[in-house]
Amino acid sequence: MTSTIDAIQPHVPTFSESDTITAEIEATGRPNKTVGEPFSDSPRMTCRDVSVFYGTNQAINNVSIDVGCNEVLAMIGPSGCGKSTFLRCLNRMNDTVAGCRVDGKILLDDEDIYDPKVDVVPLRALVGMVFQKPNPFPKSIYDNVAYGPKIHGLTKSKAELDEIVETSLQKAGLWEEVKDRLAEPGTGLSGGQQQRLCIARAIAVSPEVILMDEPCSALDPIATAKIEELISELRLQFSIVIVTHAMQQASRVSQRTAYFHLGDLVEVGPTEQIFTNPQHQLTEDYITGRFG
Ligand SMILES: Nc1ncnc2c1ncn2[C@@H]1O[C@H](COP(=O)(O)OP(=O)(O)O)[C@@H](O)[C@H]1O
Ligand SMILES: [Mg+2]
Repeated sequence: MTSTIDAIQPHVPTFSESDTITAEIEATGRPNKTVGEPFSDSPRMTCRDVSVFYGTNQAINNVSIDVGCNEVLAMIGPSGCGKSTFLRCLNRMNDTVAGCRVDGKILLDDEDIYDPKVDVVPLRALVGMVFQKPNPFPKSIYDNVAYGPKIHGLTKSKAELDEIVETSLQKAGLWEEVKDRLAEPGTGLSGGQQQRLCIARAIAVSPEVILMDEPCSALDPIATAKIEELISELRLQFSIVIVTHAMQQASRVSQRTAYFHLGDLVEVGPTEQIFTNPQHQLTEDYITGRFG
């Protein structure tokens, strides 16, 4: 597989560009404005001036970005820069973290997900999450996928439920491997299969957005390649936001890439441009391996 990252051309910022940015960082210690194009013509999610605090410690500083329909948005940046924190804002997973406060506005299809009227249970079906370590329930393969549709009351009959389980496993690229052993425990599958099972579980409740936090970091290269292929297929139906520390992965699966640094959203742009012609010095330093 070839990737844009293999063909990185060193980016030489124009004089005025690097000058402005350098002056900005010298003055404030931080870039105070995201470089590039954080907004989308057809947004599925709209995030404006989002800040996140753990107690008094600010982990995300005034981030504004859209997640487009049918796009894979990659989030990259050095460890601790706030990628997981920001991702968790998108389905209010930070609500479960004691002392965590989220400011700003996040809309899903024009609805404010932080409105006190919003019930987080259906929200987390619409904006599903896949974690770093595959975490199937200690249940059968079938029940792992059927659980969500059951608790959300999405089906009226066993036949309908069977149908959802089958199509979800098909979309997750797992059906052929498990169709003859649906009653066996999900935890008995290989790591890569478990991760695809978790993706099937997210798909089963008809999400609009799927969040993935380093979904391949516990997997071998072959299992990783399968998940990456799957992500490209899922984009046709869902919006996907993926946090990854593997820049090759971002360049293979995503259309847009967002670069975070110390809680700031430094730069967002078309993935190929971010990896071949970044506009911000901090982005360039990161993608050329100067730090991270
Ligand atoms: N549950 C938490 N409680 C307190 N601080 C946290 C918590 N989770 C993350 N942080 C802090 O927020 C910052 C961003 O962390 P994180 O979002 O995990 O970064 P990344 O995913 O980019 O590695 C770090 O300084 C981290 O220590
Ligand atoms: Mg993280």
